[in-house]
Parts: sequence; structure tokens; C-alpha cells
Amino acid sequence: MVQLTTVFSLFLAASGLVSALPSPATETKGTLAGPSDDTAHGIYIVDLADDGSTTWTFVAPINETLKANPLTTRDVDSLDKRDSTNCNGFGTPADDVNVAQGNLANQCGNGYFFSGRSIAAYYGTGVAFGCNYGKGQTCHYNDLWSDFGNINAKCGFTHGAQAGAGWYSHSSWKASYGRTSSASGFC
Ligand SMILES: *[C@@H]1O[C@H](CO)[C@@H](O)[C@H](O)[C@H]1NC(C)=O
Repeated sequence: MVQLTTVFSLFLAASGLVSALPSPATETKGTLAGPSDDTAHGIYIVDLADDGSTTWTFVAPINETLKANPLTTRDVDSLDKRDSTNCNGFGTPADDVNVAQGNLANQCGNGYFFSGRSIAAYYGTGVAFGCNYGKGQTCHYNDLWSDFGNINAKCGFTHGAQAGAGWYSHSSWKASYGRTSSASGFC
């Protein structure tokens, strides 16, 4: 009987602890606030502070010559069936978010590890982001090009006009990569 009470108390303590954390294991949308007016263009680790505010920690400047280079949609049969391409249902100026996508992919290169809630590239009116819902992620430029290609195909992308905001969800990685307006939340 004593043992059972102990186990129950531990369970209660553990539940309290889990609910106090910013739910890292579930994929929710718009948890992180976009950049504020005085945030410089750049690549950032974006995270949720204990008080619920969003922190933007500078990693690298934006190189304006880097543009998106999306691959055509990958063979659907080779993808994890639980993966999905999702559209937010609104657009953002394509040429700004294009630079953000190019810079995020360049930062990821052949493998860039991040363990905050998000890595994001902010340029003008657009943000390109990676969301970490697990214990950290290593992003790669070729995966990002594939994800952006899928988002272009489903959500739209027109130079000189709008790109549909959206994200590609990698279920088994507990990660997603996408793009949105700098006025919107993400991850
Ligand atoms: C910006 O990117 C271009 C294209 O990759 C490269 O040639 C150039 O050196 C970069 N500039 C800086 C300042 O890193």
C-alpha cells in the first residue's frame, strides 16, 4: 500500500512537471511570435521563454544574393506516409520569402544541428523556418529544397507576386520546415 501511494505521488509530480514545459513533443502552429519591428534581418534560433515570450537569438546575417532553389516534388511513394504538406491559407510576398528560404537552406548546408524550438531566417516580409518538436534536429539544404518544392506545388509560388504560406511536416523526425509572413507566428 505504501508503495502504491509512492508511485501515485511520483506520477502526480511527473504530470505537474510535464504540463509546466512548453509541450516539445506535439506539433502545434503559431506558438512562436514573428520578429518585432527592431529585429534585424538574419538567421536566428527562435525559442519560447519561461514567461511565454518569444526570444530571437542572432546566428548569422542574411546574404541577399541567396535565393530559393526548390526541387520538384519527391516521389510520394518514397516518403513517410504520415508526412504532409500543409498550407496556411494566406500568401506572403514571394521574392522576400524566397531570400529567407535561400538563407535557411544555406545555413543548413550539409548538416546544421539546432536544439531550440526553431531555426528561422527573416528577410523583409518573410520568414523561413524549421520547427523542432523533438530533442533537436539536423537540417540539410537538400531536404529543405524538397520541402519548399512540395510547399510551392501545393500552396503556390509566383515571382513578383505571392507565395502561399505553408509547412512540410516530417512525422518521424518530429520536425517541420516551412515559410510564412513575418507578421505571423510559426512552429
Ligand atoms: C553570398 O552568397 C554568394 C553566393 O553563394 C557568395 O558568392 C558570396 O560570397 C556570399 N557573400 C557573403 C558576404 O557571404
